Amino acid sequence: MRTLYSNIKQLIQIENNTDEKKIVKGKEMAILPSIDQAWLLTENGIIVDFGSMNSLSSDLQFDQTYDLTGRLVLPTWCDSHTHLVFSHSREHEFVDRIHGLTYEEIAKRGGGILNSAKRMQEVSEDELYDLSLQRLEEVIALGTGAIEIKSGYGLNTEAEIKMLRVIRRLKECSKIDIKASFLAAHTYPLEYKENHEGYIRLIIDEMLPRITGEGLADYMDVFCEIGFFNVDETDRLLEAGARYGLKPKIHANQLYNSGGVQIGVKHQAISVDHLETMDNEEVNCLLKSNTIPTLLPGAAFFLAMHYQPARKLIDAGLPVALATDFNPGSCPSGNMNFILSLACTQMKMTPEEAINACTINGAAAMEMTSILGSIKRGKKARLIITKPVNGISYLPYAYGSNLIERVVI
Ligand code: NIG
Ligand code: FE
Repeated sequence: MRTLYSNIKQLIQIENNTDEKKIVKGKEMAILPSIDQAWLLTENGIIVDFGSMNSLSSDLQFDQTYDLTGRLVLPTWCDSHTHLVFSHSREHEFVDRIHGLTYEEIAKRGGGILNSAKRMQEVSEDELYDLSLQRLEEVIALGTGAIEIKSGYGLNTEAEIKMLRVIRRLKECSKIDIKASFLAAHTYPLEYKENHEGYIRLIIDEMLPRITGEGLADYMDVFCEIGFFNVDETDRLLEAGARYGLKPKIHANQLYNSGGVQIGVKHQAISVDHLETMDNEEVNCLLKSNTIPTLLPGAAFFLAMHYQPARKLIDAGLPVALATDFNPGSCPSGNMNFILSLACTQMKMTPEEAINACTINGAAAMEMTSILGSIKRGKKARLIITKPVNGISYLPYAYGSNLIERVVI
């Protein structure tokens, strides 16, 4: 089936075949190549060709056509950090925070991740799958065309495997591309509170062989943070993950400047994520690496924390990716459109920078740039078609409106 989209007001994030855009950094992030008054041809889910309307040949063959007058077309969002597989929401903790408790205090008294883990251990795989599929369908309708999903609410071998099997079922059934990260090192389960060595051994000796034996994970994640997994523990865990072929994508520098960035870079992490607390040392460390700083402003918003220093990173010449962190504790939303808006309003990213961070750089943070992240001949035709709008700045500006008319997967 060949589909022609014509009279597109602006076709955004295009890439010519001579380019091989893997990631955009620093000043390049302000450049968002696009064509005004454009056409786009797709065939069986692949981008075949595009150009400006005055180059559209009358001989072009197609089976169906859509007139997109007034509408923008963008590649779908690439959400490279989520915990979308969970069983229960945690709005009572949200109310506790309104009454003055902190996220850390809630975690210390057995709420937070441990609360989700308790429910995870009880839920059946089928029920977990149904709940997760509903969330996945919701975020696809909001424009997400590729996503990373983590385990980490299991905290024992069976429940971690249950989560990862659900992610595998989502991979098999879903229309979008999914990567799975193994995050048993999310927090210490209660029974290992005084026996960190025991839990680390469980992850290394029992979980890793079984999970990689079943091919259930693409990446290894660790919550490297004071009160969670320290730098030495993270080091050992990432080293073990590497022995099983898992590259790291880690949680770093969320609550404290705790060495997460440096340990991620040491292990050539694909990305280090969160980064609410960053000094020059961390920025310089990232500059010497290929590790992608991934910012999660939805978590800073929901926990009312400092936003991540996007300007400092971009102005230093680094690439930045944006993701939702969709999870029941620190960001109960998988809406990338809101992340785009937070990036502009709270972190002073320009709309161009934020769209680069949500598309090509998000794809890079999941190693998917050969198939997604830009409008390029041969890449997958995963498209956001907006309602009639003035231009790209309107997308982060009108943050409460749903500006998506259609998502093409
Ligand atoms: O990325 N920081 C660690 N993990 C999640 C939150 C987990 C939770 O509270 O359930 C995050 O923010
Ligand atoms: Fe997270």
